[in-house]
Amino acid sequence: MRQKLVAGNWKMHGSLVQNKVLLDALVTGLKTVRNVSCAVCVPYPYLFQARIILHESNIAWGAQNLSPFDYGAYTGEVSGPMLKDFGCRYVIVGHSERRTLQGEDSRLVAQKFKAAQAAGLIPILCIGETLAEREAGATEKVVAGQLEAVLELSGIAALTSAVVAYEPVWAIGTGNNATPEQAQTVHAFIRQGLTARNPEVARQLQILYGGSVKAGNAAQLFVMPDIDGGLIGGASLNADEFLAICAAAGS
Ligand code: 13P
Repeated sequence: MRQKLVAGNWKMHGSLVQNKVLLDALVTGLKTVRNVSCAVCVPYPYLFQARIILHESNIAWGAQNLSPFDYGAYTGEVSGPMLKDFGCRYVIVGHSERRTLQGEDSRLVAQKFKAAQAAGLIPILCIGETLAEREAGATEKVVAGQLEAVLELSGIAALTSAVVAYEPVWAIGTGNNATPEQAQTVHAFIRQGLTARNPEVARQLQILYGGSVKAGNAAQLFVMPDIDGGLIGGASLNADEFLAICAAAGS
């Protein structure tokens, strides 16, 4: 049985004051939740705060991006070893907002994935198609291609210490989540493709769903056999919503 994972992606939200209220509520609320791992991926400036508040809790923390390089003349960048220094367990790589707004291609994402693992972090690799790609019947080709770039650089065994998040771009921040059946179809496709190469790696890989997950739809999504939890955007900023999503994953 794969353990479920619910990770919050705060994106560019928060303040010291707001974060304290939210994190305190999560620490208290998650004390009694069983059978689920929980994490928050916060903006860089708040990693120190997350570490202080969460270090004795059962909530892991992480970042939303990293440099493909460990150190050097890369103004404004943050490296994997720096994130490790702050106790990060996870780092998101290849989020569609970065692929689109920062022009990150699958080759760069694969380099970031490799840099994350080299630093001892667990990359949460985001893959997913746009609406136009789905309507053109290209969903499987797109997600397989995004995954392939990582497999080419790091090899299939690298997925033993990684998480994949299927996030259809059309479902992110739209309130328009993929139906459990739509998501399950893609998750099963991803797992089957990996099974052909290494059944054990495919069997243990956590594949999260992301895109307008909220308390009201989480349970239906998480009950699907290949959905191993969620990557949560907007709803992760609300303690009650996030706690309810974690509870749905643990039940
Ligand atoms: P929403 O949950 O706000 O749709 O965002 C999903 C997401 O992008 C998580 O990485």
